[in-house]
This record gives sequence, structure tokens and C-alpha cells, in this order.
Amino acid sequence: MTDKLPVMRIGVVGFGHLGKYLVERLQREGAQVGLTLVFVWNRNTDKLRESVAEELILHNLPDFTDRGADVIVEVCHPKIVKDFGVQFLSKAHFLVGSPSALSDPQLNQELRQATEHHGRTLYVPSGALWGGQDILRLNDSGSLKALFIRMSKHPSCFRLTGDVLSDWTEDEGRRVLFSGSVAELCPVAPNNVNTMAAAAIAAGTLGFAGVQGEIVSDTALSDYHVVEVEVTGANGFTVHTVRRNPAKLGAVTGSATYNSFWSSLLVCKGHGGRVYLC
Ligand SMILES: NC(=O)c1ccc[n+]([C@@H]2O[C@H](COP(=O)([O-])OP(=O)(O)OC[C@H]3O[C@@H](n4cnc5c(N)ncnc54)[C@H](O)[C@@H]3O)[C@@H](O)[C@H]2O)c1
Repeated sequence: MTDKLPVMRIGVVGFGHLGKYLVERLQREGAQVGLTLVFVWNRNTDKLRESVAEELILHNLPDFTDRGADVIVEVCHPKIVKDFGVQFLSKAHFLVGSPSALSDPQLNQELRQATEHHGRTLYVPSGALWGGQDILRLNDSGSLKALFIRMSKHPSCFRLTGDVLSDWTEDEGRRVLFSGSVAELCPVAPNNVNTMAAAAIAAGTLGFAGVQGEIVSDTALSDYHVVEVEVTGANGFTVHTVRRNPAKLGAVTGSATYNSFWSSLLVCKGHGGRVYLC
């Protein structure tokens, strides 16, 4: 008798850097790990034609229901999470690549309710966060007192909603761009704070308003991003981690984060009606 892996049917929403990486890897290695691609959606379909077979292209996102995906992966934009997250969870497990969307308390609540109602899992990838499971454990034991995350990158690696960085120069060095709660940071830098958002989800007792974050532009960081996490527990317990994430100039996402995303996808086999950090 041969042991066969149960096959998970995967739909990918978004075909930018991460989406392309995941689609290519699913096509190359999916069968070996029990994953099969059932659709790819991108707002511009032309971008898909060279890499994706016509029958896998989903032209209208609301038609995702016809493809019978077990897991839908969003690697697109927080707006798609807002517009489709609850619908996705009504039919499939949902790996949310833009967890900064959950800084909206109403959407956060709606998604959590949908997980419970439909018995499906909302997966939050740890991305560039180191020690997410440890933060979660400290949180669940009631001993998490404070959490601070600083993300430092070369100015070309930020995508901010305002024009706060429009005047950067190559020799300016280090500049703190924003400091405050993750709830305040998510709307100004939605593409740069997913790691902080994952941390805020792990640290549920503090929440997006209680977890503090800082984003720093540093022209010295031409080869990597730096993610620092400072955890404070009870009775003087502290942890400080510093992660150097190799990244090319202009890259919003560090290269190790792509692998991390793939590892997260491998975890998405169904963990009941709840939010699950993976
Ligand atoms: N969780 C993490 O650790 C982590 C890491 C990297 C990126 N991300 C997030 O994942 C998402 C994808 O990242 P990426 O590096 O592939 O980005 P990208 O910019 O390379 O690709 C984004 C894709 O989504 C499309 N898109 C953008 N805005 C859209 C909108 N409003 N409606 C529909 N389509 C839209 C773009 O056309 C593009 O195809 C982003 O939201 C990013 O912030 C998360």
C-alpha cells in the first residue's frame, strides 16, 4: 500500500513578487508536498499569461467559488482582504499575506467571526517575524507586558502612503519615519508593517493599539533589512532579537521572507475555526 498525501487545492490572489514566487514554486514542487494550484487571480490578467496555463487563470475574483480551493492565499493588497476575506473564509482556509488589514478592528472582528462560523482557519504568516510562537505562548500565559518592533530599511525599500520620504538623499544616514502603536503605523505604511501586524496578532492581549512599532530609514542598509523585536514579560523577563534579512535595494520584502511564506503555506492544512500564526 502506498501512503498518499492528501492534496490541498490552492488558489493564489495576487501576482506581484510574492504571488509569482508562490505560483512558480507550486507548479514546480507542489505535487511533492501535496499542493495543487487551482487558480491564480491578478487584477491585470496579461501579467499571468506567460507563467500560468489559461485554465488556471481566474478572470473574475468573485468566481473563486467555482474552483473549490481548500486554501486561498492573498498576496496582493489589504483592500482585497477587506473586500473578500470573509467570502474566502466561507469557502476555504485563508492565508492572509497582508495582515496589516487586521488593524481595522471591525474587519478583524468580522474575520474572526467568519472563522468560527465556518470552521475555517485564518492563517497569519510569520513573515520576517522571529519568535512569533514564543510571543504567542507568553501572551496566552498572561505574562506578556509589552512588545516593541523596529523595522529598519534602505529608503528605497519603503512604500509609504504619504510623501514623508520623497526627499531622501544617499548620504543622509538614519531617519526615524514613524513611531507609535502598530494600529497607527498600519495605515501609513501598509506594505511595510506586515511583520508588526503578525506580532500584534500573536500578542492578542496587547492588540494592534498596545504593540509599539517604529520604522526607520537608513541609507547604510543597502544589503539587508533589520527587524528588531523587544519583548517584555513579568518579573524582569526580556528578550531582544535582531534579524538581518538580506534584501536588494528597492525590495520591500527580504529574500528569506519568500521561503518563510512557502513554509507557512505548508502548514495550512486546517486548524479549525480560529486565527493561527504559521
Ligand atoms: N506577511 C508578510 O510578511 C509580507 C511580506 C511581504 C509582503 N507582504 C504583503 O503581501 C502583499 C504582496 O506583496 P508583494 O511583495 O508581492 O507586492 P507586489 O507589489 O510585488 O505585488 C502586489 C500585487 O497586487 C496587485 N495589487 C496592488 N494593489 C491592488 C489592489 N488594490 N487591488 C488589486 N490588486 C492590487 C499588484 O498589481 C501586484 O500584482 C502586499 O500586501 C505586501 O504588503 C507581506
